[in-house]
Amino acid sequence: MLSFEGLEYKNSILHFSGVSIFEIIKKYSTPLYVYSEEIIEKRIQSYLEGIKDFNIQLMYSVKANSNLSILKIIQNYGLGFDIVSGGELYRCLQIKERGEKIVFSGVGKSEEEIEFALKNKILLFSVESISELYTIQKIAEKLQTIAPINIRINPDIDPKTHPYISTGLKENKFGISTEKFEEVIQIALSLKNIELLGFGYHIGSQITDISSKKEALEKSKKFINIFNKYKKLKYLDIGGGLGIQYRNNEKVPTPKEFIENLIPSIPKGDFTLLIEPGRSIIGPAGIYITKILYSKQNQEKYFYIVDGAMNELIRPTLYNAYHEIIPVINQQTKEFINVDVVGPICETSDFFAKNRSLPLLKEKEYLAILSAGAYGFVMSSQYNSRPRPAEVLIQKDKTTKLIREREEYYDLIRKEIDYL
Ligand code: LLP
Repeated sequence: MLSFEGLEYKNSILHFSGVSIFEIIKKYSTPLYVYSEEIIEKRIQSYLEGIKDFNIQLMYSVKANSNLSILKIIQNYGLGFDIVSGGELYRCLQIKERGEKIVFSGVGKSEEEIEFALKNKILLFSVESISELYTIQKIAEKLQTIAPINIRINPDIDPKTHPYISTGLKENKFGISTEKFEEVIQIALSLKNIELLGFGYHIGSQITDISSKKEALEKSKKFINIFNKYKKLKYLDIGGGLGIQYRNNEKVPTPKEFIENLIPSIPKGDFTLLIEPGRSIIGPAGIYITKILYSKQNQEKYFYIVDGAMNELIRPTLYNAYHEIIPVINQQTKEFINVDVVGPICETSDFFAKNRSLPLLKEKEYLAILSAGAYGFVMSSQYNSRPRPAEVLIQKDKTTKLIREREEYYDLIRKEIDYL
């Protein structure tokens, strides 16, 4: 039995939020990203139910999926945004987001990005080093403005996730070490164009064992006390990180359960807690569709060679991440084979699954790769000169809408052709 939100077979055809994926393919072709507005809404509602009696503000982490139409939907629920680049700020401005609902994280903000953010009067910079603090001071002074900041600390906590996406351990590049916390507070308070408002951390992503998030909150009590010696804390930012279901029948806390679990550990006080969810809002709301071009057998091994590739969904390649893969038409075959699902890119690392038990399918059949809404399209490239795929939204009224056109060959050379 398929146990993913919004996905079911009706008359053997995969439906997402009640809409036939086969019909979507006929209209938009493959490879293709498909998102469900209904699921985005459900995920947000689940968060909102959890936080309703508390002073918590959700700041959606734009890096998870930055399509403008997706941002617009999220904005309509009153969420703010967590950005990590000038480009993400630029995207937020396209949907007329106001700076006061934006926090700017990231270890390497350039002077141009800082200036861009200051001019747009963002809510907070999450400052990751003493040098960055001085740089922000310099630019704020030049612009004759005041820069609101939070100090990002590195709480040295193991989030028990993939090492590439764990960020709160002392060997990671993120944040300021806690031994320097008090010193940084003093520096920040001495700078006349800096307004220190609080502190925060982000320990990692795809966290399904909430104990590490609770541990971080417990640990933060000590830092709140230190902070309060100098100033009243206004914002505590605990980052994002709630994981989602990637395997069939895998049980992962819902946003509501996550918040309810955290609440007893939230320190008491008159401050706003900021949470920056990304994946847990958009991850389950997206799937990636690809067509089997060829199937072949080399000695003992079977391959489905598909029209999608690692340039479009790199998580299996980069993190060895598991994504469930299911056929779009379920022939209810009894015959299963162990197969590698691979793309056309000239690298062995171009795979979506290895040794996966899948039904024996024919060429020209379609596969759906699940839980692909977050860190899917946003991490795509044009490697091997492959135009990026289209993105489609299933709206709440069950109509579909193109939200990003499939790129064309011309998009590959647009920035080069004039220099021939
Ligand atoms: N806040 C900060 C400061 C972050 O660095 C991140 C993610 C988030 C919030 C959102 O975390 P989320 O709620 O989405 O877990 N590409 C990787 C994930 C990288 C996450 C980076 N930081 C992947 O595909 O698993």
